[in-house]
Amino acid sequence: MAIIILGIESSCDDTSAALINERKILANVIANQEVHKNYGGVVPELASRAHQQNIIPVVELAIRKAKIQKKDINAIAFTAGPGLLGSLLVGTSFSKAFALALKIPILEVNHMHAHILSHFIEKNDQDQFPDFPFLCLTVSGGHTQIVLVKSHYNFEIIGQTIDDAAGEAFDKAAKIMGLPYPGGPLIDKYAQQGDINKFTFPHPNIPNLDFSFSGLKTSILYFLRDKLKHDNNFIRKNIYDLCASIQHTIVEILMEKLRTASQKTGVKQIAIAGGVSANSGLRKAIYEEEKKRGWQVFIPPFEYCTDNAAMIAVAGYYKYLKKDFSAQDVTPFTRY
Ligand code: KG4
Ligand code: ZN
Repeated sequence: MAIIILGIESSCDDTSAALINERKILANVIANQEVHKNYGGVVPELASRAHQQNIIPVVELAIRKAKIQKKDINAIAFTAGPGLLGSLLVGTSFSKAFALALKIPILEVNHMHAHILSHFIEKNDQDQFPDFPFLCLTVSGGHTQIVLVKSHYNFEIIGQTIDDAAGEAFDKAAKIMGLPYPGGPLIDKYAQQGDINKFTFPHPNIPNLDFSFSGLKTSILYFLRDKLKHDNNFIRKNIYDLCASIQHTIVEILMEKLRTASQKTGVKQIAIAGGVSANSGLRKAIYEEEKKRGWQVFIPPFEYCTDNAAMIAVAGYYKYLKKDFSAQDVTPFTRY
């Protein structure tokens, strides 16, 4: 018997709806919000307004693409947090109302768990899924964590950032260089034509498996301020090398801790997830480690790295199997 789940994602600046049958994707529709581009970051009030405008068309399109009827849907999974409250409220309220109308259960999903569970989306018959336990480096715009994943329901954070997230480091570095938001994909693009060793930035000295990225932002800021004193066009002339060197520094900071985490836990199945897992430098570095250290690595396809509702639906599917439904009085939460 089919288990059809509608997933809803609205935690930040992407409105997304997906339909899955068990773990197979029937449709995954994402509306990005262009409105934040010129502000250097997501403006929460504008994000929630855009979600309001997008949510119904996005769900309608997903249902049409999946070639199903509303009455076929068994449950609705939605992102309950972490994220921006106004944005989360749109997805949460929509899901509650839709579920009431269809008389079906709702499933609240933790956005960060969903990023990890994106590894269990079925893509084709040759899919390889990680075995438990595995390590997942979850790197997004709001979070940077190393998670020991013990089951589809059991996630132990063994390291995390004490200040900025890795995605934030990319976005803030881009902003300093005058690039539009989100800067991560653009830095990645320019980095491919640059020299990773042209400029060096210090690595933080943080104990255990934790990360820090705020010092990197400050060192980029001071470095560029000094260079611009002598040459107004320094950034424009060196943009490729700057992007390559900054990206290399962020990737190295992440990889150092991931290597330590693998050594400490003895776990050699290594996954990455979240928006920054789309980064070509990180993907390359992790494949190199696979060869060098006998790791088995798992990297999501690009469309499931950044925010999407397919991962929310799959996370909801595992809760559905346990009948772990939420009540109508469930409220969104902003922090992990
Ligand atoms: O997971 P995500 O879509 O949203 C959050 O949950 O935060 O991650 C968004 C973050 C942004 O900071 C964006 O700049 C970064 O992921 N990002 C990238 C790349 N694609 C997205 N960073 C570096 N390289 C990329 N290719
Ligand atoms: Zn995310």
